[in-house]
Amino acid sequence: MKLWGGRFSKETDSLVDDFNSSIRFDARMYRQDIEGSIAHATMLGKQEIIPYENSVLIVKTLNEILADIEDGKVEFSVDAEDIHMNIEKLLIERIGDVGKQLHTGRSRNDQVALDLRLYLREQCDEICDMLMELTKTLKALASKNISVIMPGYTHLQKAQPILFSHHLLAYLEMYKRDVSRLRECRERLNISPLGSGALAGTTYPLDREYVAEMLNMDGVTVNSLDGVSDRDFAIEVCFVMSVIMMHTSRFAEEIILWSSNEFGFVELDDAFSTGSSIMPQKKNPDVAELARGKTGRVYGDLIALLTVMKGLPLAYNKDMQEDKEQVFDAIDTVKMTLPVFTKMLDTMTVNSEKMRSAALKGFTNATDAADYLVKKGMPFRDAHKVIGEIVAYCIKNNKAIEEMSIGEFKSFSELFENDIYEAVSLENCVDLRDVTGGTATNQVKQQL
Ligand code: ARG
Repeated sequence: MKLWGGRFSKETDSLVDDFNSSIRFDARMYRQDIEGSIAHATMLGKQEIIPYENSVLIVKTLNEILADIEDGKVEFSVDAEDIHMNIEKLLIERIGDVGKQLHTGRSRNDQVALDLRLYLREQCDEICDMLMELTKTLKALASKNISVIMPGYTHLQKAQPILFSHHLLAYLEMYKRDVSRLRECRERLNISPLGSGALAGTTYPLDREYVAEMLNMDGVTVNSLDGVSDRDFAIEVCFVMSVIMMHTSRFAEEIILWSSNEFGFVELDDAFSTGSSIMPQKKNPDVAELARGKTGRVYGDLIALLTVMKGLPLAYNKDMQEDKEQVFDAIDTVKMTLPVFTKMLDTMTVNSEKMRSAALKGFTNATDAADYLVKKGMPFRDAHKVIGEIVAYCIKNNKAIEEMSIGEFKSFSELFENDIYEAVSLENCVDLRDVTGGTATNQVKQQL
C-alpha cells in the first residue's frame, strides 16, 4: 500500500505508477533529502513535537540509510513514487512506528522545494569553481600571448587590429559576470521553505529558523504559498546556465573559425580534435562544435521550465515535478561542457604569425590613417573621405596602405609626411588605443 493509501480502495494502475513516478530523476537528491529530514527530525525533537529519543533514532537511521545508498546497497522503487517517499519508506521499514513520526508538520510540497534548493545551491558552487578554472586558463593564455596582434572584426569583416590577449579577456569579463550571476542566484535560493507545509503553514510549533540554520541557509520563506509553489530559483539557474552556454557558444564559434584553414589562427591539440571516417586529412573541432550545439538544449530547458510554470494556479501542482529534469539537464550540460572546453583552450596552439599577417591585410589601419590626418588638422569627415579614396586606390593596385610611396600619399593630401608609416603600423594602431578598456598593451596589462 502507498504511504498515502488510506482513502483509496484500489491500487493505482501500473501505468499511473510509471507516469507519476519521479524516482528515476529525483533519486539524485537523496543526500539533500536526508539532510533536510535530519534537520527537520532534530527540530521536532527539540520542540518536543515528537519524543526526543525518537528524533535521535530517526536521525541515526537516516544516517545509516545515507551510508547504504552511498554504498550502492539500496534499490529505489517506482512504486514509492519519488525520492522523498522512498527514503521515508526505508525509514519505516527499519524503525517502524517511530519512522512514521518524521513527516509530522511537513508536506512533500515543502520538502521537495527544500531539496531542490539545497541541490541547486551545491551545483551553483561547483559550476562557480569550473568557471573560475576557465577564467584562470584564459588569463594564462592572455599573459602568454600578451603582444600577439590579430585583426579585430565587426560584421565578421576586418575592422581594427587588436591584441589577441584583449580578445581573450573579453570572454574573461563575460565569465566573471556569470560567476557573479551564479552567486546572486545562490543567495536568493538559499532560503528554507520548510514549515510551509502543504500550502498554508502548519499547526505544529516548528522552529523554522533553527532548521534553516542547521542547513546553513540564510533565512526562511515568508509566505507559505510562495514557499511551496514558486520555482523562480530553478528558472534562474536555467537562465544562468543559458548565459554561460551562450558565452561559450560564441567563443566556440570563434575557435571553429580560427582553426579553419582559411583563418589558421589556432590549432587544436590532437587530443581535443577528431577525425573523419572518410576524409583522411580532416581534423575537426568537435569539442567546440558540441559546446555550440549543446547551447540549444540548455535554452530548451529554460523555455520548458518557464512554460511549465506559466499557467499554474497557486499553490503546488504536480506539473511542477517537471522542473527537475529541465534544471538537471541544464546543469549537467554546463558541467560537461566547461571542463572539456577549458582544457581544449589550454592545449591549443596559437599561430601568432598567421594572426599578424591577417591583421596586415584588409586595411585594419585605415581608421588610424584617418586619425593621422585629423591630428594634422583635417576635419574627421574629410579625412574619412581621403582614406576611403586611398583604400579604393590600394585595392585597385593590390597593395596595403603602408606599401604606398610617400609620393602616392601626397597625391591624396599634402598633409602626409614620412611619419605616416609609423602612424599606421600595427603596434601603433594597437598601443595608441590607450583608453580605459582599450586594446593598448598598457591597458591589457592592467586588465590582466
Ligand atoms: N515528486 C514530487 C515533485 O517532484 C514531490 C512533491 C509531491 N507533492 C504532491 N503533493 N504530490 O514535485
